[in-house]
Amino acid sequence: MFNAKITGTGSYLPKKIVTNKDFESILDTSDEWIYARTGIKQRHVIADHESTSSMAEIAANNALQAAGVDASEIDLIIVGTSSPDRVFPSTACILQHKLGAKGGAAFDVQAACSGFIYALGIANQFIKAGGAKKALVIGAEANSRILDYSDRNTCVIFGDGAGAVVLEASEELGVLSTHMHSDGQYQDLLYVNNPIKDQKQEGDQAFMTMHGNDVYKVAVKTLSRIVDETLEANNMLKSDVDWLIPHQANIRIISSVAKKLSMPMEKVVLTIENQGNTSAASVPLALDQAVRDGRVKKGEIVLMEAFGGGFVWGSALVKM
Ligand code: ACO
Repeated sequence: MFNAKITGTGSYLPKKIVTNKDFESILDTSDEWIYARTGIKQRHVIADHESTSSMAEIAANNALQAAGVDASEIDLIIVGTSSPDRVFPSTACILQHKLGAKGGAAFDVQAACSGFIYALGIANQFIKAGGAKKALVIGAEANSRILDYSDRNTCVIFGDGAGAVVLEASEELGVLSTHMHSDGQYQDLLYVNNPIKDQKQEGDQAFMTMHGNDVYKVAVKTLSRIVDETLEANNMLKSDVDWLIPHQANIRIISSVAKKLSMPMEKVVLTIENQGNTSAASVPLALDQAVRDGRVKKGEIVLMEAFGGGFVWGSALVKM
């Protein structure tokens, strides 16, 4: 049986930046409030001509280049997204065509902010079971397309972007374990309405609704539990983890998970200040940044975790 190894990472952020100050002129909010409550200073927002698949394409090509793999060798593409180009076909199918990959399986995973962790977990199982040899695993979100810019509870928090990894069958250790959970009783605390079914009149859009404070409380409790679960499953100690790469939802949630791991904040990869919450894209965006700036090195142990609407949550422990 093969292991699944991350052999390349890539990412993309749109050029346009919206700062907290920019919101002050359109909303009853302030740079101070947003930064103090979330740790966010700015976020990237896609241009009209861009899409989830166009961001994913650039991130994927960067990851392929880093891995030294040609798109034609890819036999599995999984995109974690909750803001797909279309209801169907999947963004993964659209991406497959853009990359010039052909014939392999391609599908999306809809697990809100945990989309990348879920996609990584599924790709890991595919590779271990012999169902794929070279996979592209992506988190990509055009959150700005599902935000109500008159709702200060949601629009200041989210940003757009994409991150990707190439996952290859290998005899070396790679993904050590992945853990995925969900609890649908919380569905009304964080959701996007159905753009087809809920459309009252032509032009009505699908928007995100979030009861942030309730989400916050469950997220802190749940993420602490999954850290224990992941370490126990691998018979590892907190001190065995070199890097924490968390979903970038809120600096206060991230700090409490780091505390649980007794991990100094220098060992936590943070992108939230400059990128906001990019939902399924945030973990692979942070991973790519830390790999490219030389922080995360080959052989190190990385713990990734995420929590999002559903609720869905998950983690992955990876030897790089
Ligand atoms: N500017 C100013 N005031 C605001 C803003 C804003 N942008 N947004 C809300 N407020 C107000 C509220 O209206 C409320 O006012 P009130 O007391 O008069 O009613 C007050 O600030 C406090 O609101 P809370 O929601 O209690 O603020 P909180 O400290 O909880 O911070 C936040 C809100 C940042 C959203 C936080 O709850 C959070 O990060 N939650 C978790 C988000 C998360 O993890 N989501 C999961 C991943 S996302 C996904 O899956 C798509």
